[in-house]
Amino acid sequence: METLHDLLASRNVEPELHQMLLTLADCATEISALVRGGALAGVLGATESENVQGETQKKLDVIANDLIKRKLAAQPLVKALASEEEDHVVASHDSGRFLISFDPLDGSSNIDINSLVGTIFSVLPAQQGVVSEAAFMQPGENQLAACYMLYGPATVMALTTGQGTWMFTLDPTSDEFVLVNPAVKVPQQTAEFAINMSNQRFWQPAMQGYIEELLQGKAGTRGKDFNMRWIAAMVGDVHRVLSRGGIFAYPTDTKDPAKPFKLRLMYEANPMAFLVEQSGGLASTGYERIMAIQPDHIHQRVAVILGSRREVEHCLQHHG
Ligand code: AHG
Ligand code: MN
Ligand code: MN
Ligand code: MN
Repeated sequence: METLHDLLASRNVEPELHQMLLTLADCATEISALVRGGALAGVLGATESENVQGETQKKLDVIANDLIKRKLAAQPLVKALASEEEDHVVASHDSGRFLISFDPLDGSSNIDINSLVGTIFSVLPAQQGVVSEAAFMQPGENQLAACYMLYGPATVMALTTGQGTWMFTLDPTSDEFVLVNPAVKVPQQTAEFAINMSNQRFWQPAMQGYIEELLQGKAGTRGKDFNMRWIAAMVGDVHRVLSRGGIFAYPTDTKDPAKPFKLRLMYEANPMAFLVEQSGGLASTGYERIMAIQPDHIHQRVAVILGSRREVEHCLQHHG
C-alpha cells in the first residue's frame, strides 16, 4: 500500500510542494466527509447569495470554499489564493511560495441529486513582492501541480506534478489517499464523447460539423458508432476520460452573448489540461493549447476540448 506521502517521497517531489499537496489532500478528505453526510450534514440546498460568476451559490459551494480557505490560511507555504467563489484574490502569507487557484465544489447542480461533485486545484509559483491578481496571470505551463478530487462512490484523486498523472483512492478506514494507478494513460482512440447537446444550435460551424460527423456513426465518414455521456460536473467527465478515454468539450456558444464560454481557465481548464496532457491526451480551445494561454483575469473563461489524442485531433481539424 503506497500512500500519497510515500509516492511524493519516492518521486522526489521537493519537500515544500510535497507539504503543500498533503494540505490540499487534507481539504478534500474533510469535504468528502461532508459530502457523504448529505442532508444529515446540512450541506444540501442553495444560499441566497450569488458569486462573481452570477451563479446562485449552493450551500456546499460556500462550505467547501470556507473550509479550503481556512486550511490554506493555516499553511505558511501559501502566498495567495484565487477561488471560483471569491471575487478577488485573497492574500495569505507574504513568504509563501505557492499561489493556489481552486474550484471548491465542481458540479454544484449535482449536489441536491446525490450525483458526482469534486474539487479542483492548480498550484502556481509565487514571485517575490506584494501579491496581486497580476501574480496569478501565468500560463498553465507554469503550473507546479494540478489535481482534482472526485467525491463519487469512492473518493478519488488524480494528481500531477509534471511526472505523469497518478490516481489515488481515499481509504475510508485510514483517511489516507492510496495509490491505485502510478501512470494514468488516456487511450488514444475513443468512441465516446461528452458535450451538452442542448446547446447544439448555439455552437459555431466547427463544432456543429464535428458532432454531426460523430452522430452519423458507422454510415458516415468516421465509420464507427459513438456513444455519449454528460455528467454536468467536469471532474466526473474528466475522470471518465482519464479512466477509459473519450473526448470532452465545452465549446464557445452564442446562448448568452455576454458569456461566450462556460469553463474557467485558472481553476477548471488549466489544471484539467495539465492532468490530461500528462496522461498522453490533448487539451485545446480549438485554436490553441489551453496551457499556452496568457491569462488576463482570474475568472477568465475559455472553450475546452480535451481527451483522447486522436479524437481531439479530429475535432481540431474542423477548426481549421
Ligand atoms: P461549477 O459547478 O464549479 O460552477 O462548474 C460547473 C461546470 C462544469 O463542472 C460542468 O462541466 C459544466 O459546468 C456543466 O454545464 P451544464 O450546466 O451546461 O451542463
Ligand atoms: Mn466547476
Ligand atoms: Mn464550483
Ligand atoms: Mn459554480
